Amino acid sequence: MTALTLSTAAASGLRADAIVVGVAKGSASGSGDLVVAPGAEAVDQAYDGKLADVLKTLGASGAEGEVTKLPAPSGFKAPLVVAVGLGAEPEKDASYEPEALRRAAGAAARALTGSKKAAFALPVGDAGDLGAIGEGALLGAYVWDAYKDKGDAKAKNGKAKNGKGPLAEATLLGAKPRDRAHKAALERAVTVSEELNRARDLINTPPNDLNPEAFAAIAQAAAKEHGIKVQVLDEKALAKGGYGGILGVGAGSSSAPRLVKLSYTSSKAKKHLAFVGKGITYDSGGISLKPAGHNETMKCDMSGAAAVFAAVVAAARLGLEVNVTGYLALAENMPSGSATRPGDVLRMYSGKTVEVLNTDAEGRLVLADALTKASEEKPDAIVDVATLTGAMMLALGSRTFGIMANDDAFRTAVHEAAEEVGEAAWPMPLPEHLRKGMESATADIANMGERMGGGLVAGLFLREFVGEGITWAHLDIAGPAFNESGPFGYTPKGGTGSAVRTLVRLAELTAAGDLG
Ligand code: BES
Ligand code: MN
Ligand code: ZN
Repeated sequence: MTALTLSTAAASGLRADAIVVGVAKGSASGSGDLVVAPGAEAVDQAYDGKLADVLKTLGASGAEGEVTKLPAPSGFKAPLVVAVGLGAEPEKDASYEPEALRRAAGAAARALTGSKKAAFALPVGDAGDLGAIGEGALLGAYVWDAYKDKGDAKAKNGKAKNGKGPLAEATLLGAKPRDRAHKAALERAVTVSEELNRARDLINTPPNDLNPEAFAAIAQAAAKEHGIKVQVLDEKALAKGGYGGILGVGAGSSSAPRLVKLSYTSSKAKKHLAFVGKGITYDSGGISLKPAGHNETMKCDMSGAAAVFAAVVAAARLGLEVNVTGYLALAENMPSGSATRPGDVLRMYSGKTVEVLNTDAEGRLVLADALTKASEEKPDAIVDVATLTGAMMLALGSRTFGIMANDDAFRTAVHEAAEEVGEAAWPMPLPEHLRKGMESATADIANMGERMGGGLVAGLFLREFVGEGITWAHLDIAGPAFNESGPFGYTPKGGTGSAVRTLVRLAELTAAGDLG
């Protein structure tokens, strides 16, 4: 992964491949003119104060994510200046939004893929800005090339190395290396970004290599490394415990399901949060098979579990003063002679029976068992994360996740936490009338209801498996979990690590006593 460092060196003397500066669409006088953002004064001076004019000549506008490269001024040790657009300049006396800094740093880091070292001379108002720039750089530098020829196959096919590695080092200017808040912000950015990037790796790993057993083994190893208690229930233990939902979904696969419980505890904790993640390592739909065109990206269906895993490890690494328990509900949804059929009834871990009318509505089945299990410890709140419904994508698009909850204040708190860390989310209702559509003539409930409002129907199903009196929120990340279009800001193509930062923020807020 990219290393993150701080430097107090003058821009001209920096030994780096590039210096990153920010540019924005000027707001003063409403002229929409290009302005150079604070932090780049020394660079601008070296161009005789004409950096904005030079960039305008090159076609720069300051638009968000726009990258313009130009030769560094004479006398500079670094050969290249990279100007990245921050969007609109803030009003007078206001500062750049952390998310604008995060995105700009990400776009610049991605443009510098293959470089050794880049210095970021972006506007740093406070420690939060520094953290955002650090996060943006580390997340934007992410490269997924684990399955590409990196030269080792050259002898075999005579072809050159395929692709470039990530930017090796990002050094941030404008920080105070001795300032405690600055140091803490940097450490937080590194921890959260490393774990988030690991979640991306897991999501991107092809499903023939990441089955439930493999995922559980990775979680087990990480837990051991970071002092997290871990329990893995294999198919035998799941059968003994009566986890009918997880077993029913995994029944068709030759790779057996797992339920992983990760317990991070702090001696100073006053509160307990539980995170539950949907971990379908591949969703073929099962007997209700998905058609071609709908199954190519379904390795991403474990993104919720990847987010929960990353968040628990990040909480442990940051030593947050809160207990966090993560549950990864892992199964592969495949059709076969042993698969669950539409019409089968499953007896869930809670004791409730579910008539499976559509085997492609499998996420709610594995989550239901994990929610029941999570409820046993009576945590102060449970948050589940899942790529649950195509309906949520239709409702909110591919960059925003939906938040449902059994408590309006908690739903609002989760939404605010998401906004704070730069994740787009939106509150969704759980309309009571939609429960009727899930009535089953045979079982206590069916796993499908009305097609309209399918994301809310799924939320209502989950709600029935949350223990009495426990505050709960459900994040449907089907849209933002996997980026099928081109990269933008600090978001790469493929697995995005959606919800990781929101979960970490929720743990921080709970530790500080600011949540629930
Ligand atoms: N994993 C899918 C939802 C999904 C779709 C995630 C697209 C990411 C991108 C989920 O298991 C599913 O198949 N849901 C069904 C539910 C339906 C059968 C009630 C859906 O949304 O169509
Ligand atoms: Mn499905
Ligand atoms: Zn699914």
